[in-house]
Amino acid sequence: MTGASSGIGAAYARRLAAHGWDTVLVARRAQRLDDLARRLREETATTVETLVADLSEPADLARVARRAAGDDIGFLLNNAGINGYGPFAGLEPELMTKVLGVNVLAVTALARAAVPAMLERGHGTLVNVASQLAFAGSLPPDPLPERAVYGGTKGYVVTFTRTLAAELAGTPLRVQVLCPGLTATEFHRSRGDEPVRGREPAVHAEGGMPVDRVVDASLAALDSGEVVCVPGLEDPAPVTALAEAELAIRAAARRGGS
Ligand SMILES: NC(=O)c1ccc[n+]([C@@H]2O[C@H](COP(=O)([O-])OP(=O)(O)OC[C@H]3O[C@@H](n4cnc5c(N)ncnc54)[C@H](OP(=O)(O)O)[C@@H]3O)[C@@H](O)[C@H]2O)c1
Repeated sequence: MTGASSGIGAAYARRLAAHGWDTVLVARRAQRLDDLARRLREETATTVETLVADLSEPADLARVARRAAGDDIGFLLNNAGINGYGPFAGLEPELMTKVLGVNVLAVTALARAAVPAMLERGHGTLVNVASQLAFAGSLPPDPLPERAVYGGTKGYVVTFTRTLAAELAGTPLRVQVLCPGLTATEFHRSRGDEPVRGREPAVHAEGGMPVDRVVDASLAALDSGEVVCVPGLEDPAPVTALAEAELAIRAAARRGGS
């Protein structure tokens, strides 16, 4: 699982280990990974591997992809993400490239690495972490600042995952895109260009959903076979309405072309 050194990824790792899964923890901060790995081994007696990697670096991504392609990967959590918030016209090109690298390229490359072996074995789970900003990015920005590139990357993750889920629908693989709203992690303490060093996890000033509730929602959605999981959305009617709107748009576009 990527982004396992804090927030949603660390909580997911704790939960899967508690359920008996051996885990491979990926992130840049080695100390955080080592601390979590030690705790998981003590508390759950599972095997925990750490892979220190910067997913925006091609060589590191290739190394993690080789591990993701292993025939012992039954669950890929593509969770690492950075925001690169800021006015688009002033966004540093290097940071923009990193946001695209971590949020888009790494998610795609690791899924591409893991899915063939999962298909070969006849089971496997892929969870890609997007954001409700994939749907709400153009709504009024309060409380989040300028976010066109971040919202765009998360839109990619939603479309990529939903389309891949449709392609894999006849297989035993489970595929989910997890779309949290504001969540109580370190996420908004950094724009993502460097690790957040020496800071304790803290709830955002605005609050945010506890990470365990996000994990609860994701696991429940996997059990019920929902592809799009929006933690906190008790009634799935808006997701159904979204699919209906897409059908109407496709039908209209087809009529328009005939
Ligand atoms: N918090 C929210 O409000 C919220 C809402 C919706 C969606 N999300 C999404 O949830 C996911 C997890 O975020 P979080 O809220 O749990 O925030 P977080 O606590 O900041 O966790 C982000 C994780 O990504 C890792 N990461 C960042 N850049 C990386 C890189 N270049 N290479 C490898 N790992 C990298 C970080 O580890 P290192 O720094 O150690 O590398 C960290 O483990 C993200 O995809 C985010 O977009 C968050």
